[in-house]
Formats: sequence, C-alpha cells, structure tokens
Amino acid sequence: MGFENLLVDIADGIATVTVNRPKQLNALDQKTLEELSAAFEQAGRDKGVRALVVTGAGDKAFVAGADIAAMSRLGPAEAREFAALGHRVFGLLEALPIVTVAAVNGFALGGGCELTLACDLVYASERARFGQPEVNLGLVPGFGGTQRLTRRVGPMRAKELVLTGDMVDAPTAKAMGLCLDVVPPEKLLEHARGKARTVASRGPVAVATAKRLIQQGADLPLGEANALERQGFAGLFGGEDAKEGMRAFLEKRPAQWKGT
Ligand code: CAA
Repeated sequence: MGFENLLVDIADGIATVTVNRPKQLNALDQKTLEELSAAFEQAGRDKGVRALVVTGAGDKAFVAGADIAAMSRLGPAEAREFAALGHRVFGLLEALPIVTVAAVNGFALGGGCELTLACDLVYASERARFGQPEVNLGLVPGFGGTQRLTRRVGPMRAKELVLTGDMVDAPTAKAMGLCLDVVPPEKLLEHARGKARTVASRGPVAVATAKRLIQQGADLPLGEANALERQGFAGLFGGEDAKEGMRAFLEKRPAQWKGT
C-alpha cells in the first residue's frame, strides 16, 4: 500500500514506519494519522511482521507534534474528532500483539512525545528532545499525553513537563524514564532494530501475552492483575510454542516457533 506521508519498509520481519513530512518536522495532520492507522493495521495483520519500529524522516525531528497549522482552523467539535482520531491510532499501536519500538531521532514534541508513549520501547539519539509544549499554544496534550505520560513517568514529572511546556534533552529524558538508551544519531536505527530483532526471535505468543499482561495489569488492582497473569501463564501451556520452547531447552537446541 502506497502512502503520501509515510515510508514503510519491511525487512527480516521488522516493519519500519517513517513519518515523512520533514518540511513540517513530521507534524501529524489528519492524513498522516489516517495513514499511520492503516500502516499499524497492516503490520498487525501481516503474519510475517514480528516487530514494528517508528521513526521520523530527516535528522531534525522524530515528530514535532500535531500539525499546528491544521489545528488552528478547528472548532471544538472538529477538535474532539481530531483528538479521537489520535487516540484511536495510538490505541491501535499500543494494542498491537508485536513489540513496537520508537527510534527518536530528533524533536519528539506534543503528539510526537505522545507517539513514543504508545510504543513499548523507546530509544533516542543524542539529538533527541522530548516535551509536551501544548501550554505554549494555549492547549493541553490531546493524543493521550496527560494520561500515558503520567503512567510512564509519574504524576509529578508529568506535571512538570505538561505545565511548563519545557523540552528535555535525551539524557534527562532517559533519567526520567521517557527513553531507555541514548545513542549516537548514526547508530539509532540499528540499535532500535536490534532490540526489535531480539524480541522478534522469542516465542511470539509469549511476547504478545506478556505485553498484554503488563499493559492490562497496570490499570488493575494487584490481586486482579495477578489473576490475569495466572490465566495468561496457564493459557500458554495449551499452545504449541510453550511445549516447543521447553522441549528445545531440554534438548539443547534453538526453538522453532509456530506462533500458536
Ligand atoms: N505543526 C506544523 N508545523 C510545524 C510544527 C508543528 N507541530 N512544528 C514545526 N513546524 C514547521 C514550522 O512551522 C516550520 O515551517 P516553515 O518552514 O514553513 O516556517 C518548519 O516546521 C520548521 O520549524 P521551525 O522553523 O520552527 O524550526 P526551529 O528549528 O526553529 O524550531 C521546534 C523547531 C522547536 C520543534 C519548533 O518548530 C516548534 O516549537 N514546533 C512546535 C512544537 C509544538 O508545539 N508541538 C506541539 C503541537 S500541539 C500537539 O501536539 C497537540 C496534541 O497533543 C494533539
């Protein structure tokens, strides 16, 4: 499927989705969000895709936010639709049963920072800057930022970022848990793909189950979350992969995953 504002490349089971509007610092307008939705759905359907990497075109920005020029023309009802679209697309990304990795190559601001928050793993280049600068525009985050940011870094750090609108550099972002590693720009994509490849080599049903348990459990009381884990753990014993994984260990050979 051809896209206007995205580049999609699939190699070795890893789909790389690049937001490609470098003149607008890869800002997200409606079309780009709709294309992201289609790309994520496609990756979720394609059994050959075992991991997804998201990045931005050019060496300046990952995604500098929602498209401010487009947003400036919206009334309240259209703004609600726009936010709902962003929520739907990022919810779709978050719910994919494969690992999703953000390779943050530059500015990740507003909707760009929110895009990283919907990914499982986030790696940043030394040039990356993270922030939720919406208050500078008289706005608040609208693609899940007030909620996912709080869950990722805690309420006080979330408030500092959202209420000041200040950007943080990559080492500061790492210290607060917004990204995992900071690497030189030329190494970023390979670093992110390397992590994606590692996860993609593991049992796919186990990976999908573990991801779901961590995400669903985070919103539940511990007792209910642990009940969910017991259910997920036991469920794997009815499939082929867990049998194969344990048999392969005992036979001292690599496992051959069937994805069941
Ligand atoms: N939307 C639309 N266009 C954008 C944009 C955005 N979010 N960010 C940058 N651009 C455009 C600029 O308008 C500029 O276009 P022109 O060349 O046509 O003038 C081009 O990208 C380059 O940007 P700058 O000249 O501003 O580059 P800079 O190096 O001086 O500054 C920057 C870089 C600090 C990232 C600055 O561009 C900036 O502050 N961008 C806006 C960041 C922002 O506020 N993001 C939040 C958006 S709101 C949001 O995302 C809401 C939500 O949660 C849903």
